[in-house]
Amino acid sequence: MTSQRKLPADGWSEQLIESFLGELSLMDSNNFPSNCGVGEREARLASGLVSRRHFHLGHGIGRSGDLTEPQPKAAGSSVINRLTNDLALDALRAAGLRTARACFVVPMATGMTVTLCLLTLRHSRPRARYVIWPRIDQKSCFKAIVTAGFEPIVIENELDGDELRTGIDDVQRAIVAKGAENILCVLSTTSCFAPRGIDRLEELGALCRDHSIPHVINNAYGVQSSKCMHEIQQAARTGRVDVVVQSTDKNFMVPVGGAIVAGFDKALVDSISKNYPGRASAAPSVDLLITLLALGAEGWKARLQERKRMYTELQQRMMQLAERHGERLLLTRNNPISIGMTLTGRGGDRTELTQIGSMLYTRCVSGTRVIAPGDTKVIAGHQFEGWGAHHSHYPHAYLTAAAAIGITETDVERFIGQLDKVLARWRRDRPPPAAPSPAPAGTNGQSAGGASSPAPGAAGQTDGAPPREKKVVIVVGPSGRETNGAASPQPPEKNSKKSVAVTLL
Ligand SMILES: Cc1ncc(COP(=O)(O)O)c(C=O)c1O
Repeated sequence: MTSQRKLPADGWSEQLIESFLGELSLMDSNNFPSNCGVGEREARLASGLVSRRHFHLGHGIGRSGDLTEPQPKAAGSSVINRLTNDLALDALRAAGLRTARACFVVPMATGMTVTLCLLTLRHSRPRARYVIWPRIDQKSCFKAIVTAGFEPIVIENELDGDELRTGIDDVQRAIVAKGAENILCVLSTTSCFAPRGIDRLEELGALCRDHSIPHVINNAYGVQSSKCMHEIQQAARTGRVDVVVQSTDKNFMVPVGGAIVAGFDKALVDSISKNYPGRASAAPSVDLLITLLALGAEGWKARLQERKRMYTELQQRMMQLAERHGERLLLTRNNPISIGMTLTGRGGDRTELTQIGSMLYTRCVSGTRVIAPGDTKVIAGHQFEGWGAHHSHYPHAYLTAAAAIGITETDVERFIGQLDKVLARWRRDRPPPAAPSPAPAGTNGQSAGGASSPAPGAAGQTDGAPPREKKVVIVVGPSGRETNGAASPQPPEKNSKKSVAVTLL
């Protein structure tokens, strides 16, 4: 496997992986029995717990400013680093990026890794000030540009039915208006929350080729989708793709902390690894290596297949549920991971709608996002109207759920069960919608579900803390079951004496 630089066909046992890592760690100077270290960095680990947590590896990876360079004091760690990069490339190819030439693991998450790529491109385009960025409402993507010191040119998405697609004509206009040499790159995105689809990568690739502008693709969680990978591959074949960045945790089921930079030109990928200042943590590489060895080629492909199956399952179950509640799924053919469902049947203003997100979160459903039109957010001086929806005037309120790698039948079953209950309760607690009235001036006519005008505040994402603008009181009966919820508690059940009140601010 080390000589073939490919995933083993079948996954290794934990025992075998442990013994392999043990052997490699003995090749690092900190584990030599007679080593006498007199440098300022000798990988001395004060805690046995820390040492074991890292398989006695302490030197990290890379050598002053090149993440792929072997470290003389740490032959074992250097083998791990090299092997991880080789196996990651094999895994990316197996997932659909067939002609990728090189990749390396960066011990920073996706956003910072995009920043590193942009900063490297600057060397070859010293005049460039702008990054053309088809809008995706995820803060890290936008901040990656600003942190690198560039000015984002935000391209509004176009509404195509329910789906949001790249405004290609606007990209073209922006290139002409700013001048190609002043543009560092086009930063496109594959994986995104519905109803945004994968960017039109082939068309963007062609524009980049024609205007000699680099094309960086944020493929944050797209490795797990053969469609995302296929579209990148096509864009690289027919147009221009320079760098593709993907998260390790979002695609390979390891802890947060790493990303993979991949590309079709080895020299460019190498130049990015050389631009990393200093040595780096080996932890993300070790986690990925263990995982890839444990999965093997067959296990990896099986995970990808299973995710695809679970996407169809989630989609069908959400469709049936939507019908029961007078809603419907948003038709987003170009989003192979995230699914959107309207939340318009009972009207409701932004605050009321985002309560659905809070109610789901308090029932242990994480990761759904409830988006109601009308939020405006300013990030790094740029104002985004309709924040959360990837569009200034998206016409529906909706919620999203994702079939990401590792999702199980139980996850889907529980989610559908809880969503069913939450929607039933939410509707029961609400009066029937008032007769539609004309939209008030200044709201762009986009009230949620045709009810009252949008209220200020954040989108109701249940990933992380529930929305803070609303006080939510949950009363739990002695059985542990929630007996009433949300902003206007109903009379508690008979056994409420033993109830526990939890207030989320
Ligand atoms: C499309 C996209 N880009 C970037 C990020 C940021 O990723 P990270 O937290 O790994 O930097 C995310 C996070 O979900 C994302 O969805």
